[in-house]
Amino acid sequence: MKKEEFKFGYDLYENIDELNAADAALLKAAREITQKAYAPYSHFLVGAVAQLQNGETVSGTNQENASYPVGICAERVLLSAASVLHTNVPIDTIAISYHNTNAGWKSDRPVSPCGMCRQALREYEDRINQPIRLILSGMEGEVIVLEKASQLLPMSFGPGDLK
Ligand code: THU
Repeated sequence: MKKEEFKFGYDLYENIDELNAADAALLKAAREITQKAYAPYSHFLVGAVAQLQNGETVSGTNQENASYPVGICAERVLLSAASVLHTNVPIDTIAISYHNTNAGWKSDRPVSPCGMCRQALREYEDRINQPIRLILSGMEGEVIVLEKASQLLPMSFGPGDLK
């Protein structure tokens, strides 16, 4: 028997002003696009914007439904759009932000993708054969930068397991 360990590091910034210009612009776009979320049930508006290797950007917002489980997260809306509009083009970075519009709630700390989105991100990395950086932040405050989205899903199931 031997013990195994999984560890990963990330960068924590005090606010958007500490980021380089490209990352700051992407996060600003993610914050802005939260306005286009369709979240009449949770009032939790999520926005995601990807920087692609071909210079284009693709965005996604959460799309809820009166039949609650039908709703889809911003990250997976983004990945589906990128897959169709820019098939096989690597995604370098995705900035993800949210605006919690419920009374009394703040949007001043980073939140990270849900489990289902982690699985989707992990497979997208496989498809494009490169890590996807994530920039996570609310409408203000601290910013987390991760070098590889799949670090959020250790010991994951993936395409290789089906072979
Ligand atoms: N949501 C996202 O869009 N991304 C996440 O990673 C977490 C949750 C959405 C789903 C739902 O519309 C709302 O946020 C509240 O869970």
